[in-house]
Amino acid sequence: MGGLNRLPLDDAVVWHDVECAAYEADLALWERLAAKRPGPVLDLGAGTGRVALHLIERGHAVTALDSDPALVGALATRARGRGLRLTALTADIRSFDLGERRFGLAVAPMQVFQLLGSSAGREAALAAVHAHLEHGGVLAIALADPFEGVPAEVALPPLPDIREQDGWVFQSTPVGLRSVAGATNIERVRHAVAPDGALHESIAVIRLDVVRPAELERAAAALGYRVLAREQVPETEAYVGSAVVKLEAT
Ligand SMILES: C[S@@+](CC[C@H](N)C(=O)[O-])C[C@H]1O[C@@H](n2cnc3c(N)ncnc32)[C@H](O)[C@@H]1O
Repeated sequence: MGGLNRLPLDDAVVWHDVECAAYEADLALWERLAAKRPGPVLDLGAGTGRVALHLIERGHAVTALDSDPALVGALATRARGRGLRLTALTADIRSFDLGERRFGLAVAPMQVFQLLGSSAGREAALAAVHAHLEHGGVLAIALADPFEGVPAEVALPPLPDIREQDGWVFQSTPVGLRSVAGATNIERVRHAVAPDGALHESIAVIRLDVVRPAELERAAAALGYRVLAREQVPETEAYVGSAVVKLEAT
């Protein structure tokens, strides 16, 4: 149970949904990649299942990993509620071991690889995923630069993410972008308005590592991947675009 007054939901789940669940610009890309490859899909850093549930609903078997047990629990509950079968596991993508299980496609949507803290963390994840891909299997990783498209004189376009649930209204507004060593801190003000009108306010800082696609591709090549042509997820009014690095396990 989270700290929000009387809200029967976990804070992590609520704010994850507010800030991530409405994003749709990349779904067609993951769907297209999954359609090209037989076999189950591995969703890395799956959160509450924005991509995993989308792919299962289109007939793909999905194993979803996330390091946050609250998000994994919410994902498993949602899948059951929709009558969908998936494997959802709490695991760190830098060190997971699924035994003999192998995948034709692994996806890391929405900057998951920018939350691993260092090049050593990213290389550990590349190696762990490689060990779980079939020969010729593909790992696709979305990378974004939060500063992209933001004019120099503007701190950040003030577009809040808003969601209503169980009589509550949640609003998360990006209020600042700050470059720190090797990363960008995204500062958000989070407001939750209870059904009785009580307002809860908090500040969140999300640290996204700066990861250049070419740098990740070089590290992957040294670990036994063949680098495929990159793809692009276009920016939308509310979200920056992403470069999608594609790597084939050899
Ligand atoms: C921006 S969210 C994206 C969620 C989901 N992939 C989507 O596109 O909607 C990043 C997710 O990565 C997870 N994550 C961060 N570091 C992780 C790690 N080392 N291992 C597994 N999951 C991780 C977070 O818990 C969070 O759910």
